[in-house]
Amino acid sequence: MREDKTTTDTELALLYSAVKNAFREAHLTTPDLDARLLVTETLGVSTAQLIANPRRVIPGHLAHEVEQRARARLAGQSIGRILGRRAFWSLDLRISPDTLEPRPETETVVELALSVIGPDDAALVADLGVGTGAILLAILSERLNAFGVGVDVSMAALSQAARNAERHNLDSRTVYVAGNFGEALAPVFDVVVSNPPYIATDRIPQLEATVRNYDPHVALDGGEDGLNCYRVVFRQARSMLKKGGRLIVEIDPAAEQAVVAEAQQHGLIDVVTANDLTGRPRALSLQLSDDNMQTGYKSS
Ligand SMILES: C[S@@+](CC[C@H](N)C(=O)[O-])C[C@H]1O[C@@H](n2cnc3c(N)ncnc32)[C@H](O)[C@@H]1O
Repeated sequence: MREDKTTTDTELALLYSAVKNAFREAHLTTPDLDARLLVTETLGVSTAQLIANPRRVIPGHLAHEVEQRARARLAGQSIGRILGRRAFWSLDLRISPDTLEPRPETETVVELALSVIGPDDAALVADLGVGTGAILLAILSERLNAFGVGVDVSMAALSQAARNAERHNLDSRTVYVAGNFGEALAPVFDVVVSNPPYIATDRIPQLEATVRNYDPHVALDGGEDGLNCYRVVFRQARSMLKKGGRLIVEIDPAAEQAVVAEAQQHGLIDVVTANDLTGRPRALSLQLSDDNMQTGYKSS
């Protein structure tokens, strides 16, 4: 990639090739896809235009912006972070430095939640650690009578989730609460979902730069063994779930047994495991045993 700041006008295909080649030479995992997204999104052209109109002239200032963004990608930022948006489920979500970039494997949590919420159910759903709103908004986009509460410890993340809800016309069916997971909730929820921080603290420095340097650490750090947030959420289950309600959590595949053991210690039974697209266990659906249900809840 050229280093000059005053990029001259260039042709679309030449610019695209330069970015693609730079990404290939740097051995990015998906160089062609990254180059295509970066070029089309930055220039506001479609993939069809990229192919059909290769000689289109790109003004120097736009070519310069593409080159700057390509350099950010080569320095370790993900395409989502650079563009400030990420596709999740059927939604186009805005992300910010305060939110985790949603991951495709998290769609496993959505699938599991949809498997227990009927198409017309007026289900009450809580998402603990809502971030961009990815899980909650995906569920509400599929279940038109459901209502959702998004919780996060980060006010900036809550604002981002609220903005994403508005963009997808889901704001009238969501509210947002700042707090420590479910501490402020009452036992009225049909489904509680959570993708809590679950990386063991001492593993964070070993994560790839795209994650380590750009995802907020409050969204990653699960404490010494990575299980701290599960312990909090499992302890809170009886004060969030209504009778028959389900708690659905994302897990690190390697931690499946440890998370199930923690869940069982907190009276959560009837474990259903769902695999992600790579075939690895990625989400657990749990239910409180009858003798662990909270009784005598007063709504005042
Ligand atoms: C792994 S991210 C998940 C974000 C989003 N749900 C997703 O799946 O893309 C974890 C989220 O939990 C939030 N979080 C961390 N500690 C929390 C706490 N004690 N109470 C509530 N939310 C917390 C973080 O701010 C972050 O948004």
